[in-house]
Amino acid sequence: MSIIFHEKSKIFHLHNDSISYIMMILENGHLGQLYCGKRIHDREDFSYLLEKAPRPMSSCVYEDDKTFSLEHIRQEMPVYGTTDYRHPAVEVLQENGSRISEFGYQEHRIFSGKPRLEGLPATYTEDDSEAETLIITLKDELTGIKVELSYTIFVKGGIVAKNMCFFNEGNGSVHLTQAMSLCLDLPDYEYEWIQLSGSWARERHVKNRILTHGITAIGSMRGNSSHEQNPFIALKRPSADEQQGEVFGVSLIYSGNFLMQAEVDAHDTLRVLAGINPSGFDWKLDPGEHFQTPEAVLVYSDKGLNGMSQTFHGLYQKRLARGYWRDRERPILNNNWEATYFDFTEEKLVEIAEKAKECGVELFVLDDGWFGKRCSDHAGLGDWIANTERLPNGITGLADRIEDLGMKFGLWVELEMVNKDSDLYRAHPDWILATPGRNQSHGRFQHVLDFSRKEVVDHIYEMIAKILSEAKVSYIKWDMNRSITECYSAVLPSDRQGEIFHRYILGVYDLYERLTSRFPHILFESCASGGGRFDAGMLYYAPQGWASDNSDAAERIKIQYGTSMCYPISSIGAHVSVIPNHQVFRTTPLHTRANVAYFGAFGYELDLNKLSEEEIKEVKEQVCFMKKYRKILQFGTFYRLKSPFEGNEMVWMAVSEDQKTAIVGWYRILNCVNATFTRVELQGLNPNYQYSNSQTGRVHYGDELMNLGLITSDSTAGQAEGDAVPCTDFESRIYVLEAVE
Ligand code: DGJ
Repeated sequence: MSIIFHEKSKIFHLHNDSISYIMMILENGHLGQLYCGKRIHDREDFSYLLEKAPRPMSSCVYEDDKTFSLEHIRQEMPVYGTTDYRHPAVEVLQENGSRISEFGYQEHRIFSGKPRLEGLPATYTEDDSEAETLIITLKDELTGIKVELSYTIFVKGGIVAKNMCFFNEGNGSVHLTQAMSLCLDLPDYEYEWIQLSGSWARERHVKNRILTHGITAIGSMRGNSSHEQNPFIALKRPSADEQQGEVFGVSLIYSGNFLMQAEVDAHDTLRVLAGINPSGFDWKLDPGEHFQTPEAVLVYSDKGLNGMSQTFHGLYQKRLARGYWRDRERPILNNNWEATYFDFTEEKLVEIAEKAKECGVELFVLDDGWFGKRCSDHAGLGDWIANTERLPNGITGLADRIEDLGMKFGLWVELEMVNKDSDLYRAHPDWILATPGRNQSHGRFQHVLDFSRKEVVDHIYEMIAKILSEAKVSYIKWDMNRSITECYSAVLPSDRQGEIFHRYILGVYDLYERLTSRFPHILFESCASGGGRFDAGMLYYAPQGWASDNSDAAERIKIQYGTSMCYPISSIGAHVSVIPNHQVFRTTPLHTRANVAYFGAFGYELDLNKLSEEEIKEVKEQVCFMKKYRKILQFGTFYRLKSPFEGNEMVWMAVSEDQKTAIVGWYRILNCVNATFTRVELQGLNPNYQYSNSQTGRVHYGDELMNLGLITSDSTAGQAEGDAVPCTDFESRIYVLEAVE
């Protein structure tokens, strides 16, 4: 890995074994993009890649030159209005009303390692030899606004992490109205755009779009990254698929309003922008102040979508997630939400926990309803004191009882919210985000605390830290159940109201940082009505997230498949729940519910006392299976093999680091009559190892399983051997492949 600067040609070349990223200081001092893609040899001069042409109608920079127009030059930090008419990465509103700026090269520095980002989540290095960073300083002389563009290339993987930091070194105030984290100008648009879209209980479905001239975009203006769109996109060559071909992935390490946009221009070039959503964003930068953008991560893969995902998984698992739980197998939990909702007593909870313990479950989680007057969703949020009518011994007493059972204890919180029916709201009605004179819209009868205010965050911190320091709490589920409306802070001046959405998220990150550093052994799981804030920003603080409120196995297949595009399997909270399912009222076999949830941070979301003896026997076997294989399932190399968005079957697999064990999950939505023979070509095995198949007892070479395929035909098709049990709808199978000597 290295970052080279060619003094003469003014060219930067960032490269490792996988990727080359080449930029150039242009003749007007701006920064041009020359190449981003598969690693190529270095050379002194790549300036021949600069595309200049005397095009009629182009606006030109120099008096005597018709060829130099930013309209057709690929750039790193484009601004609008100085001959480029595409959407800009940066816009600075100045005191005289002008939005024109000219950022010219000043200096650069190259160093080992990667600096942390102030107040924001970001990838990191543990050792300086893991990455190299280039910081290029550009300045707009007229306003005195300086910007540092930071690029980090890691030793391994086609990864470039990028952010920008603005400094006001001038005498007047300016407003940043657009400050994108990443701009990638590519020379052609022959890509399919892949996004993860959905809604509550239908998160992160894979959607493909063909790019064409104009804008393709996704984003959020809800204050959270949202159920609807996820801050991740992939650009795939049309011939690429899961296993092969060229793919770019872009992920934003941010949990608030975001925008990801592709613009194809008249000359068929493609501009990709990723960053804070400019809509509603207006950051005032007074002299002496600075503004840090979130980090965007660009991944290049020439090994298809799986190659891209594996790169993201490795990076986010090892160098974004942090702390005690980062590399640890995740405890199997039993959460009481779908078992009881708000209707519980201490005794009832202990009964659920006892049965869970009998089944081998390791962690009992008490969900919503334990505090203040929280007997329904109308009251109590904000009052983080145990309701002693329900829990006579408080959280401390309940946690002790759970620990006495030999289990760990976990607790649900929703720290960013308040109900109007709460002591907190009665004491501080101006602590919510609300616009003077306007309606105060609610979501689930709750309002959003103004986390842009330090005193609000301090207060919540004190309340929850008290509980966590008194009770034996090993896990926190941090929920967030509404989007922001009427966004306005009672304390910021009018010309800073455009900062609130971002300041809010900074407040959330601040609280996470304080709690995770004070309680480093607590496992945090993020949640936002399921997967409404399942993003890379959250992973920095909480190494796992509740993927969706939809716990139906057939629905989860799609949700978890889509989520795996960017996020590691260890981060995907996945539970077995009751039938008929509470979201879609569907009945699926118990083994299928577990077979889906195994590929995640596994748990149960039901009262095991209500299961039959036969089912309990099965649950005990599931728990044993998970304990035996969870390291591979959660931290192994993950491959998607068949997409649930393209047919009736889905297949994925995880392979151990030493390639000696692989676990294949095969799932079929609807049963078929007289179906065809089916097989699936596996990935990631050692071609020379012989693997025993847990379903058939047969032994196969790795190359056989990868080229000829694993037979997945079943009995309903009339093809099964021996006395195999007939299948039904929502059938699934787990194949464990173990290398034999
Ligand atoms: C939404 C979460 O996604 C659920 O799992 C549950 O915790 C409820 N909130 C509780 O109100």
